[in-house]
Amino acid sequence: MTTRIGLVGAGFIAGRHLDALTAIEGVRVAGVADPRADRAEVLAARAGAAAYAHWQDLLDVERLDALYVCVPPHAHGEAESAAIERGLPLFVEKPLATDLPTAEALADRIDGAGLLTSVGYHWRYLDTLETARELLAEAPARMVLGAWLDKAPRVDWWARQDGSGGQTVEQATHLFDVARVLVGEVEGGWATGSRSAQGPGDILDVCTAALRFSSGAVGSFSNSCLLPRAQRIGVELVAPGLGLWLTEHQLVVTDADGERTVHRGVDPFAAEDRAFVAAVRGEGDDVRTSYREALRTHRLAVAVATAAAGGGTVQL
Ligand SMILES: NC(=O)c1ccc[n+]([C@@H]2O[C@H](COP(=O)([O-])OP(=O)(O)OC[C@H]3O[C@@H](n4cnc5c(N)ncnc54)[C@H](O)[C@@H]3O)[C@@H](O)[C@H]2O)c1
Repeated sequence: MTTRIGLVGAGFIAGRHLDALTAIEGVRVAGVADPRADRAEVLAARAGAAAYAHWQDLLDVERLDALYVCVPPHAHGEAESAAIERGLPLFVEKPLATDLPTAEALADRIDGAGLLTSVGYHWRYLDTLETARELLAEAPARMVLGAWLDKAPRVDWWARQDGSGGQTVEQATHLFDVARVLVGEVEGGWATGSRSAQGPGDILDVCTAALRFSSGAVGSFSNSCLLPRAQRIGVELVAPGLGLWLTEHQLVVTDADGERTVHRGVDPFAAEDRAFVAAVRGEGDDVRTSYREALRTHRLAVAVATAAAGGGTVQL
């Protein structure tokens, strides 16, 4: 049986998913939709798929088994809604939206429909994240430092507040997601941020937050998009007798035996797509971030971004 998948959005991340999906035996990317018809055509051609200018036509024409929604944060909602109405399993790229109400309303409808979902928090599939989790089970984290110090991506929507929700919602959300896995839920905190004439668009170009977790652990999370290239992206953890530094590529462990570096052994993008396809086929249940679970991370990111813009308390 062939698993037929449709992609909504034909940009960078859709291309990554297309390549990972076509590498899975029995998967066919049947169609790609993007209002930029040239992009849809180029990406569709890579997989011998049909190109559509509107996701509605993709859904109407192709008999799909699942839909990937890979649009910019501001464009979420309608395609997900149509998939929910059709009972179509959904893979949605993070962040769920620029705001909270759009994602909350979709989460309620997804739960109501009992729909299989997965969200692109791909760090969850890092084997190094699992190693970190195992080590922290013995010595729970007391402190976490998250940093996303990077350049601003060049896509037109990214530096607009109404396009991306800002860097905290769009990128630092990965850090919050990892922190939730390794440290637990956040109770509250404080955040501040600002923008300067050198910053791109109308978003905050620096943001920092001090958060308190239910466990009593504390965390600080900072992001900036003012740099010429990525400088520091990852999560550092302090536990009794144990230090960890997790990036997308490796985990550095410091303990009584010294320091050792563990390189990741999996491609987390490929792993998340394999897990989703297996779940769609009823052959596996290793989806690690459902829409409802992703909403918890999104709620935290939006709360931090909102507090940072107002210079105040993180309200959860
Ligand atoms: N998981 C990750 O690490 C990761 C990495 C990169 C991007 N992303 C996420 O993926 C999303 C897209 O990012 P990107 O880098 O691919 O952006 P992009 O700008 O390269 O591509 C987005 C595409 O969506 C199209 N689009 C806009 N509105 C649409 C609509 N209503 N229907 C169909 N297509 C529409 C645009 O024309 C564009 O071609 C963002 O939310 C981003 O955060 C996630």
